[in-house]
Amino acid sequence: MTDRYAVFGHPIAHSKSPQIHAAFARQTGQDMSYEAILAPLDGFAGSVADFIAAGGRGANVTVPFKEEAFRLADRLSARARRAGAVNTLTFDGDILGDNTDGAGLVADLTRNLHFPLVGKRILLIGAGGAARGVVEPLLEQQPAGLVIANRTVSRAQELAGLFGRDVSACGFDGIEPPFDVVINATAASLAGELPPLPPEIFTATTLAYDMMYGRDTPFLGFARTYGACTADGLGMLVEQAAEAFCGWRGVRPDTAPVIASLRAT
Ligand code: ATR
Repeated sequence: MTDRYAVFGHPIAHSKSPQIHAAFARQTGQDMSYEAILAPLDGFAGSVADFIAAGGRGANVTVPFKEEAFRLADRLSARARRAGAVNTLTFDGDILGDNTDGAGLVADLTRNLHFPLVGKRILLIGAGGAARGVVEPLLEQQPAGLVIANRTVSRAQELAGLFGRDVSACGFDGIEPPFDVVINATAASLAGELPPLPPEIFTATTLAYDMMYGRDTPFLGFARTYGACTADGLGMLVEQAAEAFCGWRGVRPDTAPVIASLRAT
């Protein structure tokens, strides 16, 4: 019988995950289906229970259910526990929660963009769920430093505090440049807004990375104006999916052709 997988979100119609996992399944010869499920805002747990009852084997979870998925899981991977959020569920008698977002970001930066993070100065902008999910995986790459800057400074301090001396926090006016990598993990791009960042954070060798994908964001435009190289979050999206797929199916898909075909559409 074909194994069923899905992505849960609200909204979900725009999700590229079904296309990505279908490509992975074709490429690796896996007998599986993958659908998008719009869960009601107050009905995530019920939707997941229905899917499990219907034979679902695993699921991805996207906005706004990642924290709820964290609470729903019976067991958590170490990285999901540290992220405080879950984007990947495996149904195998009980519910295992994992978080592949940080690994996806690191894979995109280091493997696809050929940008090793060892010894680099990293600026992470934002202190919400998206930022929290990537701090630990970034630190594992042994950068020279990681600074979290956020509009609401107290949230940056709170997040940095979870990781001890390795991470410092500030507001946008307290950033001390320059940086090798600047990662935008705020929701500003979604609203077409630009966080008020000092342009001195960018140099000609800085990589400015926006976790959002699918359109050029004000953040990337700003970074380019000040000479930085830029990348959007499409590679991270495909890499986090590959990490989830590998956990479910035990085979690692080749991400490069999938990223290339999504870029072409
Ligand atoms: P997510 O799970 O997407 O991270 P979140 O937890 O609501 O969502 O966090 C949103 C992040 O984007 C926060 O860091 C928020 O800053 P505040 O903590 O000050 O609210 C940031 N953000 C949202 N809109 C922004 C904007 N226009 N400019 C700068 N930062 C913004």
